Amino acid sequence: MSHVHHFPTRVTTADGSPQFFYGADYNPEQWPREVWDSDIALMQQAGVNVVSLAIFSWARIQPTNDTWDFEWLDDMMDRLHAGGIRVDLATATASPPPWLTTQHPEILPVTRDGVVLSQGGRQHWRPTSPVFREHALQLVEKIAERYASHPALIAWHVNNELGCHNVYDYSDDAAEAFREWLREKYEDLETLNQAWGTAFWSQQYSDFNQIVPPRVAATENNPTQLLDFNRFSSDALRDYLRDENAVLERISPDIPRTTNFMVMSGTSGMDYATWTSDVDFISNDHYLLPTRDAIEELSFSAARCSSLAKNKPWWLMEHSTSAVNWREINPPKRRGEMARDALTHVAHGADAVCFFQWRASLAGSERFHAAMLPHAGADSRTFRDATALGETLEKLAPVVGSKVLPSQVAVIFDYESWWASSQPFLPSSLVDHHAQALDWYTALLDTGVRVDVVSPDDDLSGYKVVVAPLLHMVPPALASRITTAVEAGAHFVTSFFSGIVDEDAHVIPGGYPGALRDLLGVRVEEFHPLTPQQGVLLEDGGAGTLWFEAVELSEGTETLHNYGSGPTAGMPAVTRATRGQGSAVYVSTHLDREDLAELAGDILRTAGVYVDVEFPSPGWVITTIRRGTDADYIFLIPRDPEGTVEVGQLTGIIHGPAETTIKGTDVIVLRREHTA
Ligand code: GAL
Repeated sequence: MSHVHHFPTRVTTADGSPQFFYGADYNPEQWPREVWDSDIALMQQAGVNVVSLAIFSWARIQPTNDTWDFEWLDDMMDRLHAGGIRVDLATATASPPPWLTTQHPEILPVTRDGVVLSQGGRQHWRPTSPVFREHALQLVEKIAERYASHPALIAWHVNNELGCHNVYDYSDDAAEAFREWLREKYEDLETLNQAWGTAFWSQQYSDFNQIVPPRVAATENNPTQLLDFNRFSSDALRDYLRDENAVLERISPDIPRTTNFMVMSGTSGMDYATWTSDVDFISNDHYLLPTRDAIEELSFSAARCSSLAKNKPWWLMEHSTSAVNWREINPPKRRGEMARDALTHVAHGADAVCFFQWRASLAGSERFHAAMLPHAGADSRTFRDATALGETLEKLAPVVGSKVLPSQVAVIFDYESWWASSQPFLPSSLVDHHAQALDWYTALLDTGVRVDVVSPDDDLSGYKVVVAPLLHMVPPALASRITTAVEAGAHFVTSFFSGIVDEDAHVIPGGYPGALRDLLGVRVEEFHPLTPQQGVLLEDGGAGTLWFEAVELSEGTETLHNYGSGPTAGMPAVTRATRGQGSAVYVSTHLDREDLAELAGDILRTAGVYVDVEFPSPGWVITTIRRGTDADYIFLIPRDPEGTVEVGQLTGIIHGPAETTIKGTDVIVLRREHTA
């Protein structure tokens, strides 16, 4: 139902050249009208040209079941239009008003242990509730009818961060919808019983109505039931998105639609790879983590968005100008980090840079969350920096519309493997698919190359190196696609606990790593997970943590590194099998950061992958390339915000200091004309 790629109408300058979208969530319902005019003037001053409006406005628009108040929103839309500011208009369904939850408490979500979540926060609705849907879709209809042809409108913002708080609902509505989903998937109970392995612990079902969501049980739930519930919960939200889409498509087919994804570490509930055809353009929310690999995590997320967007432009719908309010300790960003973060998203293909939010709230749970306009007002570092960023984006306008140049190296990131390897009752609760993928991504960046982050279903044939860390679930079709890519010349790398289960989370017998055993030319009988205090050494001085294994080699498989301590001392730790034109490397422990980077470097050399931009310390920056019609735009993003980076004499600088050593938050953009 979605258009192929229907991007919001571009903002252009007087000479018709397209600009970046720049702006924020705007919540004028929190402010008296006197503030509105000064908001618009300050937005213009900061270079803001778009706002996301009405995200949490349901109670204001529909104060009671049968009253509607659009007067304020009409006024706001008109003012924004008059001020030259476009609107990404929300369908306002994210937070149901108290009158609705009071009249219909049956829309409230229920936790695993049976607690009904109260109103008073936000997103307190069941994705599968027919009563919620009826009210929410009525609201969508009213808003769409009223604003479909408003001149300020450029995009529909469906709900907001679907699943941020309500992805897992264990209510009776969810139970019924889950059974329906299972009926469709398995058709008959025999197939379901087989897939769920219900011969174990006397779990055999004799009627679909006996099935419930994986609520708190006497001990851990059936693993395939858990996995199907992950899939169902992601699908249930997507179905809800489709229902809002259908209303918008009927009333306002010409306006592109999006819903803001949350591609960032810690958010695992929604398998966005299965949502991409339900939006006209990809948009994402990202908040910088206070970790050592903060910029790498940001870059990983943005690279993931770029591949979800199929290398077409996408929107950074939310990030923060400075501190957030929802961690234990919430320090502000360092000087320069606001622009660095924004430009890192741009480097990976974002054509819109937006923040949560425009003006910092004085009341409510988010009153200590940073905004473009802080509590201190316009006379503030944050507002000046936000204004400077607006100017930077104006200067970088030639980059708009250019496409991220795919890399020769891909890291596979897979929600199904993440879900299946994060369940209870596994060999170790310390291994995490996302963390492993990020560690490999970081190690590859250490070598200075550009790296894509792809889904298992993406086309792997263009890559010289494919790294699949902890790819726990490998159905036969994926195993054969990987094998085909290797035989055609790809160098494949995977790590411990990969290839272990099929799509039902059943173990593939015959020795680990199951589905990848033949390709890798190794066989493992037992896992040796390690405690956080334990480690293992390699013969050549390297070290590993988390896990090790006794790896048997098939004929022809070579050893790249041996273990140097513990029960497997002298046995292979890292191996390589040559297959067709390519090779398959197996890493049976979690290598320390430097060892991982060294191994990544060796593999890249074997595959003939080199850095794109030669300068003194390639691994100290993240490099991306956006290809335009006349030129390439090369982004260089320092990785250590507290250090400095020697970049040598660079030519073609269109943004950033023209110095041989730059600060850790300086981003450089180079323009390289295409040569005929
Ligand atoms: C997002 C949400 C915004 C705001 C922001 C704060 O999850 O979409 O409305 O709450 O976080 O960081």
